[in-house]
Amino acid sequence: MTHPAIKNLTPAFSGKVAFITGAAQGFGRNFAEAIVAAGGRAVICDIDLDAARATAAAIAAGNERAIAVRADVADEGTVDAAVADVVQQWGGIDILINNAGRHLTKYNQPFAKLSRTDIREMMDVNFMGVVNCTLACRDSMRARGGGVIINIASIAGYLSSTPYGVSKLAVRGLTIAFAGELAADNIRVNAIAPGLMGTEAALAELPEEFVTKFRDELQLVHRLGKMEDITATVLYLCSDAASFITGETLKVSGGYPLGI
Ligand SMILES: NC(=O)c1ccc[n+]([C@@H]2O[C@H](COP(=O)([O-])OP(=O)(O)OC[C@H]3O[C@@H](n4cnc5c(N)ncnc54)[C@H](O)[C@@H]3O)[C@@H](O)[C@H]2O)c1
Repeated sequence: MTHPAIKNLTPAFSGKVAFITGAAQGFGRNFAEAIVAAGGRAVICDIDLDAARATAAAIAAGNERAIAVRADVADEGTVDAAVADVVQQWGGIDILINNAGRHLTKYNQPFAKLSRTDIREMMDVNFMGVVNCTLACRDSMRARGGGVIINIASIAGYLSSTPYGVSKLAVRGLTIAFAGELAADNIRVNAIAPGLMGTEAALAELPEEFVTKFRDELQLVHRLGKMEDITATVLYLCSDAASFITGETLKVSGGYPLGI
């Protein structure tokens, strides 16, 4: 007989619908690919509909288990319409991954270097985006007997030293607040805080000395983070093995920063 802990670790995605924001590229796309490979269905939600369509077509080739929808997560009207569209096409939503976020070097500067408009626009995506998508998906998840929400935070939310960091600290706060608010609907809410990821985009944007110091001195595990490290954590948090975990933010960062 399979040990229950091993059985629970195997993600049971068959028939499950995952709504993933910012999924046309990067982390979101990787999550969608893994969920479809595990037997689930993925909604590629993005502000860029053409890119979302191209990604959905690539993932759905031969299985029809990925569709594209357009929404700007900062705009509740477009989010509500996208969720209604998915409920109409696929009957409901079981998993929401709040992944879309503004994270350029620009938002990692002191507040005084940015305009108020820039700060407000970033908070509208990184903070209000999570609020808008969570509230829009709640009824459908409740109607299906529960669900899982995963918010993509950042280790910058532990340092909280820039506008971006503060926005990701707020994502950790939302994770706690919504875990409490949605518990009665059998919806678990957790977050993942990725560390420095060795993606092409990150490596192109960051000075080489910064990356080397981070990897060899600040991290306890001396290798660059990979997309699969984050995707594996998404699969775990969606699985029954994580059914006793809610309101948590899990750092996936090679051990930096440690703290209580
Ligand atoms: N890349 C990293 O190293 C890293 C580290 C820690 C945390 N994160 C977080 O992970 C998440 C994804 O990062 P990524 O590197 O994959 O990003 P990315 O920039 O590669 O992709 C983001 C996607 O989101 C879409 N998007 C942007 N604004 C949107 C909006 N308002 N509504 C809907 N879609 C929108 C974009 O079109 C794009 O397809 C972000 O929340 C980011 O803060 C990334």
